[in-house]
Amino acid sequence: MKRFVMGGVFLEVALLIIGLTWIGPSSGGHAQATGSTTAVAYKAEHPNGNVVDINLTATETVQEIAPGVTYHVWTFDGTAPGPVIRVHLGDTVHFTLTNASTIGMQHSIDFHAAMTPWDKNYQPVDPGQTKTFDWVAMYPGVFMYHCGTPPVLQHIANGMYGAIIVEPDNLPPAREYVLVASEFYPGAKPINGMYEGDYDAMLAAKPTYVVFNGRADLFKDSPLVARPNELIRLWVLDAGPTLTTAFHTIGAMFDSVYPDGNPANVLHGVQTYNIPPGGAAMFELRIPDPGLYPFVTHSFAYTGLGSVGLIKVDPQAPAAPTSYPVMGDPFDAGVTAFKSGVTLGGNGESTSTGGSTAGGGSTSGGGSASAASCTPSGTALHIVAKNAAFDTDCLAAPAGKAFTIMFDNQDPGVPHNISIYTDSSATTALFKGQLVSGPATTTYKVPALKAGTYFFRCDVHPTTMTGAFVVS
Ligand code: CU
Ligand code: CU
Repeated sequence: MKRFVMGGVFLEVALLIIGLTWIGPSSGGHAQATGSTTAVAYKAEHPNGNVVDINLTATETVQEIAPGVTYHVWTFDGTAPGPVIRVHLGDTVHFTLTNASTIGMQHSIDFHAAMTPWDKNYQPVDPGQTKTFDWVAMYPGVFMYHCGTPPVLQHIANGMYGAIIVEPDNLPPAREYVLVASEFYPGAKPINGMYEGDYDAMLAAKPTYVVFNGRADLFKDSPLVARPNELIRLWVLDAGPTLTTAFHTIGAMFDSVYPDGNPANVLHGVQTYNIPPGGAAMFELRIPDPGLYPFVTHSFAYTGLGSVGLIKVDPQAPAAPTSYPVMGDPFDAGVTAFKSGVTLGGNGESTSTGGSTAGGGSTSGGGSASAASCTPSGTALHIVAKNAAFDTDCLAAPAGKAFTIMFDNQDPGVPHNISIYTDSSATTALFKGQLVSGPATTTYKVPALKAGTYFFRCDVHPTTMTGAFVVS
């Protein structure tokens, strides 16, 4: 009897294997079941796709995750979540990851929308290195991308995730928003003015903030808008790292919910839909009456930690966009083009090229300081930070005398500082200034330095806000 059952199990397994390898291709379908197919073979199934260049840069920076709470985020392209990426079903994504880590950290990429070998393409990339590979968008929907470098819990909790939408064919026009739910686990106290992630809190799944799109109550403070009865499409990703999002809209119902955003998966008349960490769904609804409609996680222990947004239904709302950018801004739910939080390939010394973001942001090359034109004039120095740039790329102080730097940070809500290092590798600090969130001024007192040409930077924007520091 036992042998018979075993035989049955083996037969089933055998049929399963045969089914996958034989029935798959003959049903016009998906050769990926063999696990050895390349992007080229996938391409044959969707011959009409375009090749889309997507570049992401892994780097760490600082982000305000709740009012007054500046957090040391680990990011793709300088924001948590990273940019909202949009491609079309069948597109080949020509992808490059550049690791511009400021803290010597390995990072990596994992696209849930891709099928590609983990041991080849999802492995850690060393600081200063790049990784390029191609993959084909085989299924429509909304998917997570994230860093998969161990401990993955830490890399995701610190901000290394984003949403990629693979647009299906023939999707009706709608007012679209992309929401990314995630948790933040700051430590008890800030260090140098910013909070670091608390790994023990991450392991215990005890978040301080549960948010949409990187900041507590972001869309409560600036609501999403729609007109009465217009088709609203919400692409909602739960980036986790650990909690499920019980997605619910107060005062409205979802006409349709599409698990993972694939039009082939459809539910109707839904009140609340559970999105697991690493999963997503697309919601369609129409709201007839003007008013405010909160969206929340209906797990109410977490709702008050920042997981409330508003949809404002208003006949006067501006018309919905007719298209959405390839790289969208996570802080406005993917509606406008991504404004990069980092400058890429700027001065070419520490970051080894790789990429500017597609459709990307402002690239103000920080640059090569003209040390010759920069000589000391007293012991009271002055420097301004505005639009994430310094007003000078050279500071000078007299040798052997203590001096002060009056630092004027004019960027609202953005932390900057001034630190002086022996050289641009920034390994040996001569002075580290406290972070200051703008608008604010501070006066740093710097002890006497020996004559030499050194390097200064903002530690939060280490590739873009730099200059020469001449002591003579
Ligand atoms: Cu990482
Ligand atoms: Cu994953």
